[in-house]
Amino acid sequence: MKKIAVLEGDGIGPEVMQEALKILDIISDKTNIKFHYDKGLVGAAAIDAEGHPFPDSTKKNCKNSDAILFGAIGDPKYDNNPKAKIRPEDGLLEMRKFLGLYANVRPVKTYESLIEASPLKKDIISGTDFVVYRELTGGIYFGNKAISNDRKSAFDTCSYTSKEIERISHLAFKEARKRKKQLTLVDKANVLDTSRLWREIVQEISKKYIDVKVSYLFVDNAAMKIITNPKDFDVILTENMFGDIITDEASVITGSLGMLPSASVGDKVSLFEPIHGSYPEAAGKNIANPMAMILSSALMLDLSFNMKKESEIIIKSVEEALNNGFVTQDINQKTYYSTKEVGNWIYERVRGYF
Ligand code: IPM
Ligand code: MG
Repeated sequence: MKKIAVLEGDGIGPEVMQEALKILDIISDKTNIKFHYDKGLVGAAAIDAEGHPFPDSTKKNCKNSDAILFGAIGDPKYDNNPKAKIRPEDGLLEMRKFLGLYANVRPVKTYESLIEASPLKKDIISGTDFVVYRELTGGIYFGNKAISNDRKSAFDTCSYTSKEIERISHLAFKEARKRKKQLTLVDKANVLDTSRLWREIVQEISKKYIDVKVSYLFVDNAAMKIITNPKDFDVILTENMFGDIITDEASVITGSLGMLPSASVGDKVSLFEPIHGSYPEAAGKNIANPMAMILSSALMLDLSFNMKKESEIIIKSVEEALNNGFVTQDINQKTYYSTKEVGNWIYERVRGYF
């Protein structure tokens, strides 16, 4: 039996999660691996119910699980208030730190049937297939920070230890070995000391992976290359904030933010989530794209449970939904289906493979 902590979170989280769980149920039915779901509150939903975005009950739930499925976090009622004492996002950051989820893995791949949905030119993006390894528990997100009492100045500190850099670098190099054996470190080593440390350490580690070709790009240049030459990339390794920014940028390549799954890898337990966020405008309307959440559950089967075959069945079924036009309105504004209809179509497809 596998224990899965299910954190639906805010906005469209609960709706897309429902579709993913339906598909996991089928897999649980058809294999001898049973999934046990333990639901927990996180984000604005948890603030409303328990006064904290990552309450103790959820902490315990996550600690005791074999993997975590996460929907989305964020509510507009907190966004425009810079003085808000508690924010849903704090729950996400605390969760990353508490569970030691130090590597955020974000695959960026184009689907042929979605090429037209991207604002970028077809011949630039067609065939893109890279993955970003974003450091997730260090850097400016977690350094010392403060606003002065008179609110006339503020600072955020970016700091990294060699240990923090080494552990994710090894993961990224290992991944490169399984792929096209190319790794690009994205940094700002012409300005920042933390970036110089990243470069030094990656250069050192690269000696242990001589079959992997390493290149180095400054983040501003990388931001440009990612949308002008996305096919040149294989594995991108980068620190926390640069990774945050370039992965949103990279999502444009795939045509819809609603397609991208991600994994946050920790020492003990890993977390799987779509990168699209809570999309509050769509919450409760049965219009959100469930594919990124479904693909996140596929990533979980592969990375946490070693169920590669079942994971591939889900991915294939999602691709077939795309090819057959069973998509939500973010992908096709003329002919589209609801969250549930798309989920059901993929569910039936998955079922047919067993
Ligand atoms: C992400 C998000 C988060 C981040 C926010 C919600 C704190 O943008 O997962 O990329 O900045 O890490
Ligand atoms: Mg982000």
